[in-house]
Amino acid sequence: MDFMKRASVLREKLTEASRSYYVLDDPVMSDAEYDRLFRELQDLEAAHPELAAPDSPTQKVGAPPRDAFRQVRHTVPMLSLENAMADEEFVEWYDRAVKSAGGTAPEFVVEPKMDGTAVEVVYENGLLVSGSTRGDGEVGEEITDNLKTIRGLPLRLKGDAPERLELRGEVYFPIRDFEKMNEELAAKGEKTFMNPRNTAAGTLRQLDPKMTAARPLRIVIHGHGEAKGIKFTAHEESLKRLEAMGLPTCAKHLKRGRTAEELRAVHEDWLKRRDKLPFEVDGVVVKVDDFRLREEMGFRTRSPRWAIAWKFPPREEVTQILDMTVSVGRTGALTPVAELKPVLLGGVMVSRATLNNPGLVAKKGVKIGDWVTVRRAGDVIPEIVGAIVARRTGSERDLEMPKKCPVCATPVSWPEGEAIPRCPNTTCPAQVKGSIFHFAHALGMDGFGDKIVEQLVDKGLVKDAADLYHLDLKTLSELDRMAEKSAKNLLGELESSKDTTLEKFLGALGVRLVGESTARDLANHFGDVHPLMDATVEQLQEVPEVGERVATVIHDFFAAQGNRDLVERLLKSGLHWPKPKKTEGGKFQGMKFVFTGELVKLARREAEAKVAELGGKAASSVSKQTDYVVAGPNAGSKLDKAKTLGIKIITEDEFLALLAD
Ligand code: IVH
Repeated sequence: MDFMKRASVLREKLTEASRSYYVLDDPVMSDAEYDRLFRELQDLEAAHPELAAPDSPTQKVGAPPRDAFRQVRHTVPMLSLENAMADEEFVEWYDRAVKSAGGTAPEFVVEPKMDGTAVEVVYENGLLVSGSTRGDGEVGEEITDNLKTIRGLPLRLKGDAPERLELRGEVYFPIRDFEKMNEELAAKGEKTFMNPRNTAAGTLRQLDPKMTAARPLRIVIHGHGEAKGIKFTAHEESLKRLEAMGLPTCAKHLKRGRTAEELRAVHEDWLKRRDKLPFEVDGVVVKVDDFRLREEMGFRTRSPRWAIAWKFPPREEVTQILDMTVSVGRTGALTPVAELKPVLLGGVMVSRATLNNPGLVAKKGVKIGDWVTVRRAGDVIPEIVGAIVARRTGSERDLEMPKKCPVCATPVSWPEGEAIPRCPNTTCPAQVKGSIFHFAHALGMDGFGDKIVEQLVDKGLVKDAADLYHLDLKTLSELDRMAEKSAKNLLGELESSKDTTLEKFLGALGVRLVGESTARDLANHFGDVHPLMDATVEQLQEVPEVGERVATVIHDFFAAQGNRDLVERLLKSGLHWPKPKKTEGGKFQGMKFVFTGELVKLARREAEAKVAELGGKAASSVSKQTDYVVAGPNAGSKLDKAKTLGIKIITEDEFLALLAD
């Protein structure tokens, strides 16, 4: 096919795929397929610069950096909204709104108030031509190149485009992506970000659009400024038409209502779902739907009479650290805890918050006596976001980490380079309680709350997880505040916990650095607990994703006689799991594969599972024992090593052919 035609087919396919993914939430192709087509288009455009088009999906990866932002004046000012914090304030606004609408309650629409940063995006004859921040509402900064990189924001509108369309929306950072980014930064020892909102705002004001492109920002359109060549009559109608043009709007979240009760029900419903949403919502916005009526109602100084932001109880608040204490976790980690001047957060009174680790206390610069921002999301333990340095008086003190464990008084160990100090005493009551609690919950025994575990340990009834299985009805019934029925329930939970999986069992042991996904990888690789217990550090490193540090921790754990005994005693108590499927005779029997570089057609996990299914093993490093190295694009040092050792190197397609043979 002629390359011009191919480029235009690719552009159309990619634009449509991106719209299905980001606007309709209904993906039509896999990420791998998207990447492949994207690269094909990039290559075509690089080879034929005359093909370059301003609306090509390749233009979404970021223009060259610049020195400063230009100021732009908004044609129609970007106003703000009046806030209602409590029900009474909403009712006051509602009564006023009905009055200014002529006395009869009009139709209202309710949409989520996205907690992001406000922007304007301008389309001329269908093409995205400029975009800006809200600024002071009159003048903002021109950030067109950055806005162009936002996933789901079309560079060209679909269908018949109006002459000029100024759209207003909110740019936000999805919570999951935000948390993932912070985890990765923390793992690298780099500074983490405060919250998704500030990060979205900061990301939009990067001078280098490639930096913006690297972060997964999203946008939702919730209104418009000037519109030439198109006439909208009502809010919902306008959003639906914008969505048909390919724009991500909040149309799908919109609810209608007329009475204060109906509107309150929508507010309550969003509040209830707040913790489960993939983005931060800090309230709802109630708006009059009809545009003619909006005009009649008009404005106050800074805000329209026809809309209000009805806020949720804040989840971030400012309070003071009265003291800091240190708690000991199940792995012996000493964690600072801030004792706070009680504060209402998301509807709950909060008086303690974790500081994760002492390094963070130093890095965040948090001191006793500081005024700090505290945040609580859902059921998660409240955390300190940072100190308000400007409010310091000079009387604040640094936290001194104790030299001895605050629970068992054993001198703490704090090796160079480790983020936190630990209590090295594995029989420290705090560690014992923490491990038993973790074990019980990992195996689904939710009845063993921390108060019960505490009593069991303090009364000397259990010393480790295996002791749980020797408890009887009489002993359990005699615990404080324990009825016979609850005691029976606990015995029932103990009994059903015995029928488990290797993966859950490994997770329950609570080996440091072994989370859910590592436990799964270990279970898949070793098939049973004894081969794992006897594995050397090198053998452990053959497990995909297990590096030297994790391998050493696992090895040391099973080298301790106490831990080996614990496993044996648990097995004796009747814990069991399905034995690995015999894969003998599989065509990869005894063969070792290493995957390196990108896989295009299969996910890495899938490919590794296929190897295991056929009796082979997927390893993470190349050695003389490796039979095949499957190398994809951007393969690195493993490929070089395979070449040096003369190992057979195959492509992903050749690997697929082996599978199909
Ligand atoms: S409508 C006349 N709708 O909240 C102002 N704003 O406090 C019309 N916001 O600056 C704004 N979600 O950035 C509107 N669904 C939504 C919104 C929303 C978030 C932001 C917006 C505005 C601020 C006002």
